[in-house]
Amino acid sequence: MSTKNAVVTGAASGLGRAIAIALAKKGWRVLVADINDKEAQATVKMVEQTGGTGEVMHCDVTRIEDVQNMADHCFKNWGRVDLLVNNAGVAVGGHTGDMPIKDWEWIVSINFWGMVYGCHVFIPKMKAQGKGYIVNVASNAGIASLPEMAAYNVTKAAIISLSETLKGELAANNIGVTVVCPTFFNTNLGQTMRYTNDFQITFAKAAFENARITSEKIADMTIKAMEKNKLYVLPQFSAKFIWIMKRISPSLFYNNMAFMMKKGFGEKLLLKLARWGMT
Ligand SMILES: NC(=O)c1ccc[n+]([C@@H]2O[C@H](COP(=O)([O-])OP(=O)(O)OC[C@H]3O[C@@H](n4cnc5c(N)ncnc54)[C@H](O)[C@@H]3O)[C@@H](O)[C@H]2O)c1
Repeated sequence: MSTKNAVVTGAASGLGRAIAIALAKKGWRVLVADINDKEAQATVKMVEQTGGTGEVMHCDVTRIEDVQNMADHCFKNWGRVDLLVNNAGVAVGGHTGDMPIKDWEWIVSINFWGMVYGCHVFIPKMKAQGKGYIVNVASNAGIASLPEMAAYNVTKAAIISLSETLKGELAANNIGVTVVCPTFFNTNLGQTMRYTNDFQITFAKAAFENARITSEKIADMTIKAMEKNKLYVLPQFSAKFIWIMKRISPSLFYNNMAFMMKKGFGEKLLLKLARWGMT
């Protein structure tokens, strides 16, 4: 069987790295795309030690020329790309109106435009090769819409919607789509996160550090979902719970949240849940 080829953005760290290694275990060739060349090189080493092959591509996903160069490189040298994982992402916390507009622009340029560029550039080439697969890493934030995370929430909701749209649009072209919607897990996301008050970073750190699931586990679940052509990955209990609650009654879900925030115990409850590893 011929080698399968994948492009993984944001693969120098966290979930992107774990997905690259999970693919390597299955013998895939992986293009490790990131702005952090040193850590991307470290991922390639891990990929090679695990049984795959890899190479680094410096790619800033906010620059469509970088994404285009990356695609041209892969299709020219490999002939085909079987899988694109749009994973690169950052986080921002803050009340709408307090958060600097620069932080909105920063997160939208990576979490939204970076993934749109990936789809825009790779989809026509995958259509031409007659087959392919796209994994978009969104977040449960795009479903839960927790307070003080508007900028992050909207980018992730957009990526869920984009993925749902693509599922129908690309089916006739033999291109599958999976969207990954985890709640918190521990990576380097907290280190680049921008925030406007202490609660946001204290909550995020507690949620990252007490998470009970690893990037590796989520990567395995993502690969399994891809193999079964499943649209959604909701890895944790909290992710499934939020998904179900919101579908049972969206109004009840958001009215409860508004009530807790108004009475002043919303933040305390969220922080407690984060410390118990339930976010
Ligand atoms: N960690 C969590 O709790 C969590 C929860 C839900 C969803 N996610 C999503 O998972 C994805 C991966 O994040 P992570 O948690 O592994 O974080 P991470 O910070 O460990 O990894 C993110 C990677 O993206 C890269 N990156 C940032 N900006 C980039 C750019 N402009 N171009 C190319 N690469 C860039 C970083 O250098 C880094 O290697 C993100 O989309 C994130 O939103 C994370």
